[in-house]
Amino acid sequence: MKSLVVLLVVAFAVGASAQCKCESMKWATCDGTPCECFLLVGNGEKQPLNCSALIPKCFLMKAEMYRARKGLSTRTIGGKPVETAFVDNDGIYDPECESNGLFKAKQCNGTEECWCVNSAGVRRTDKGDKNLKCEELVETHWVRLELKHKETSADVDPAQLKSAIADAIQQRYQLDKKFVSDIQYDKNARLIVVDVKKDIGDRKEDLSRMAYYMEKDVKVLPLFKEELKFEPSVAGQKLQFENILVYYVDEKAPTFTMQRLTGGVIAVIVVVILAVVAGLVVLYLARRRERAKYEKTQVRELDEIQQSLS
Ligand SMILES: *[C@@H]1O[C@H](CO)[C@@H](O)[C@H](O)[C@H]1NC(C)=O
Ligand SMILES: *[C@@H]1O[C@H](CO)[C@@H](O)[C@H](O)[C@H]1NC(C)=O
Repeated sequence: MKSLVVLLVVAFAVGASAQCKCESMKWATCDGTPCECFLLVGNGEKQPLNCSALIPKCFLMKAEMYRARKGLSTRTIGGKPVETAFVDNDGIYDPECESNGLFKAKQCNGTEECWCVNSAGVRRTDKGDKNLKCEELVETHWVRLELKHKETSADVDPAQLKSAIADAIQQRYQLDKKFVSDIQYDKNARLIVVDVKKDIGDRKEDLSRMAYYMEKDVKVLPLFKEELKFEPSVAGQKLQFENILVYYVDEKAPTFTMQRLTGGVIAVIVVVILAVVAGLVVLYLARRRERAKYEKTQVRELDEIQQSLS
């Protein structure tokens, strides 16, 4: 009886420790009963995690920057590298996060140069100095995911593909598929365009997590503990991806000077043209006056000659 109790206790302990892991984050460290998991996001800086949900992108980016600084792999040893994997370096910075995982509206990457970001942590203004004002964190309410899949042996049925993608978004990324507003498929380009949208004003769902997990799934390696590949099955055929492009649509349009810059450039060009035209006009008038004077003197001289002759 005693040994049975010991056995049960041991079994329970083993079971508990086996269960103490973070499904949604492979770099997490977990410990204790109840199981608690955290992520190292700086020197001795531990971010507690809720591993039943996807981890906020801001925490993930912070951890990635920390790992990059430490020379730790942001990949996982033994994980199968994806042939087409290329490192996602652009857009990564060391972000400032709120305690709930939201990005702070203003980001400086530990430098004097700052910019404003949206809820996906993506820059939406020009860069400025430390005194730059970012009044609010503008919400990304729509992400467009452009996925390119690898060649398949058999044709992919568009209708089945669409439902497989929507299911994957719900199961793998824990986002209700009602948010998948549209999926288009271009068979020849092997391109799947997925629009994920939420209502303006919705602050419950966070589209950036799902997009970031998917981006990592396609470009590098999964962030999930098990590192199972993202390969939705379409009519028994596994679909693999070779590239992803994410577009962000915010509730308020970004304020890059891009559009204004073109406006500015046009204004400069117009001013230059006007200046040149004005210069030419002045030159022309001056010359005409000069010639008129010359002709007048000529006439006068002629008159004088004629008068002296007569
Ligand atoms: C963790 O995430 C799950 C799933 O989104 C949620 O139901 C739960 O309330 C969260 N727990 C905490 C402590 O925030
Ligand atoms: C942030 O700083 C790191 C170096 O500390 C640099 O590698 C990275 O490119 C910077 N990111 C941005 C967006 O400025």
